[in-house]
Amino acid sequence: MKKLMAANWKMHKTRAEARDTARDLVGLIADKLPQDREVLLIPAFTALVDVAQSLAGVPGFLTGAQNFYPETHGAFTGEISPAMLADAGATHVLTGHSERRHVLSESDTMVGRKTAFGLGAGLGVILCVGETIKERQASRVAEVLGRQLSAGLADVSEDLAQRLVVAYEPVWAIGTGVTAQTSDILQAHALVRAKLKELLPVGGASVRILYGGSVKPDNAGEIIGLDNVEGVLVGGASLAADSFSRIVLA
Ligand code: PGA
Repeated sequence: MKKLMAANWKMHKTRAEARDTARDLVGLIADKLPQDREVLLIPAFTALVDVAQSLAGVPGFLTGAQNFYPETHGAFTGEISPAMLADAGATHVLTGHSERRHVLSESDTMVGRKTAFGLGAGLGVILCVGETIKERQASRVAEVLGRQLSAGLADVSEDLAQRLVVAYEPVWAIGTGVTAQTSDILQAHALVRAKLKELLPVGGASVRILYGGSVKPDNAGEIIGLDNVEGVLVGGASLAADSFSRIVLA
């Protein structure tokens, strides 16, 4: 299983900035990238074509998008379809990111609809799950992750799940500088793995599980080596090429 090193650029970077960072990353990483790692850059919609073109033909580098609407086309002002993302060069997309759930009020049901639709449209979908600090303090981590995975994968068949990736991102660790303890990561990833095996008895063991939440160059190496961690999803520390290249090669 290749480790997936993903950069979520969120609402940052103009087209020129995204192109520059992509080009710098290729320069810093391409000839050192281990065979068992791949890099996924996830820019804003406006920079998708630029990033995909910058990465074209570079082995191990992929382009992804941050969001879409689960319909093929129609009267959905402001939305974008999976086919449009693919046309712009994206092979992957996020669903259920904490900022979509908590800032944009996306429900578990909507996350489930989007996950199945994106996979059905041929994209690799990274379904994000994670508990808030209140839920953790109330010992509800297993319940919350179980609920988010059950709803997120409600319409996902074993066949579709071949393109599925899951990211465990504790909400309290995202953008806060507070990384989860190794023991918290091990425990949460084991819970996610067990639930994946329950929901997908055939393919659940081989779905990659990423960790996200304040991953930095100095903690990436340890995190990536943990059981049931098959990659990282990085926000803040992925914006600068130097910092993200050290994470990818950690
Ligand atoms: P962070 O964001 O690395 O800035 O904590 C991670 C994410 O939101 O995917």
